[in-house]
Amino acid sequence: MKRICVIGAGYVGLTTAACLADLGNRVACVDINEEKIAMLQEGRLPIFEPGLEEIVRRNMKASRLSFTTSYEEGINGLPAEFVFIAVGTPEGVDGEADLRYVRMAAERIGEVMDHPLIIVNKSTVPVGTGDWVADIVRSRQRQPIPFWVVSNPEFLREGSAVYDFMNPDRIVLGSLDREAAEKVAQLYLPLRSTIMITDLRTAEMIKYASNAFLATKISFINEIANICEALGADVKEVAAGMGYDKRIGRAFLDAGVGWGGSCFPKDVKALIHMAVVHGCHPQLLQAVVEINRDQRRRVVWKLKEILEDLRGMVIGLLGLAFKPNTDDIREAPALEIAGLLLREGAVVRAYDPVAMPNAARVLPQVIMCADPYELAEGADALVVVTDWNEFKHLDLPRIKQLMRRPVIIDGRNIYEPEMMRELGFIYRGIGRGYNRTGSDRE
Ligand code: UDX
Repeated sequence: MKRICVIGAGYVGLTTAACLADLGNRVACVDINEEKIAMLQEGRLPIFEPGLEEIVRRNMKASRLSFTTSYEEGINGLPAEFVFIAVGTPEGVDGEADLRYVRMAAERIGEVMDHPLIIVNKSTVPVGTGDWVADIVRSRQRQPIPFWVVSNPEFLREGSAVYDFMNPDRIVLGSLDREAAEKVAQLYLPLRSTIMITDLRTAEMIKYASNAFLATKISFINEIANICEALGADVKEVAAGMGYDKRIGRAFLDAGVGWGGSCFPKDVKALIHMAVVHGCHPQLLQAVVEINRDQRRRVVWKLKEILEDLRGMVIGLLGLAFKPNTDDIREAPALEIAGLLLREGAVVRAYDPVAMPNAARVLPQVIMCADPYELAEGADALVVVTDWNEFKHLDLPRIKQLMRRPVIIDGRNIYEPEMMRELGFIYRGIGRGYNRTGSDRE
């Protein structure tokens, strides 16, 4: 059993704290947000993450997991041997990562620490931040107490964060002090994963490069999808055929309305920013971002192709979250698509199983509906924006009957073109040529 303090109770911090406790460690999770900590102390979660609540409750009950707003209590109370920094690094000016929360955490750690510590950075931070954190901690210490900084980037997907923590493809640790990295490695031994130890900057870069590569895979298949549409090929089959090649792999080759969320957009932009500042010209990454932006606009182009003028047209969005199994709408394609449609003069409605309360705050003009059938009633078109499982099993004949016009733009390719046309829909997927004659149209 090790004693660990985790700073930050967002989805990364909370998952890390709860899972480390579940591995038998004693963990204190610190967040400056009093409301969040009060909720957590009652065993309630401020975010929607499958399986996490149960782990949090179980470990609180076993006295392995506690929550506090006090850095002193979190770091010195246990006392902690490791302090994980897992605070947000939102997008700042010009795509540069905003490090104010990391700075605040490092300052507070320096101010309160009364014993030697290994500081583990989990937040996604620009390359070189590990050294910067060390400087801040040192500058805030009242007396010199030894500490070591280790970078340990997270690769947790929202919606499967607990599974990803417990079943990692690899653990990356970067430090200038190998012994410190090896101590952190001990925490992960029960997971029986590959552990890679490297230097600080390389570990930080692995995180950016991994996310940028995944975003590239998606933008690549989206570009292929657009070419498929022009040539009458089916991108789903193309992705399957490509995926059999082990060097390529099938994952992250689902064409659609593009990538969003709290990580990919900000991380790709931050990497571009770092590159440009250091005199590089990241052509590929810039194209990856541009393709993603256009992918959302394409939905509106497709609607205009069918409906012509969107003024007064009632368009229903199936899904608002940036992907299924989360209520997160950060950088969600739905936000941009809704904005574009409103600008065209359309009446925009939406339904999402969990993300509507979040979306209502930023999209006051969008009418939220109780279910997909209410959404379909009188609609001129429906757009599948998020691939929630429940959308895959809708009563489509009923949906068609309820709609004013049976137009469906399937932004996630969850339906089969042939079946949809047999049901009488005017259907457009993404990159799904269907009649082998070089056209996606009837
Ligand atoms: C991502 C990384 O996967 C994770 O390793 C990192 O730590 C955080 O960022 P997450 O943001 O939770 O995780 O989402 P992810 O499941 O990776 O999906 C990102 C976006 O890509 C979503 O909008 C999703 O809809 C989209 N996507 C994904 C596609 O459009 N096609 C695909 O084939 C896969």
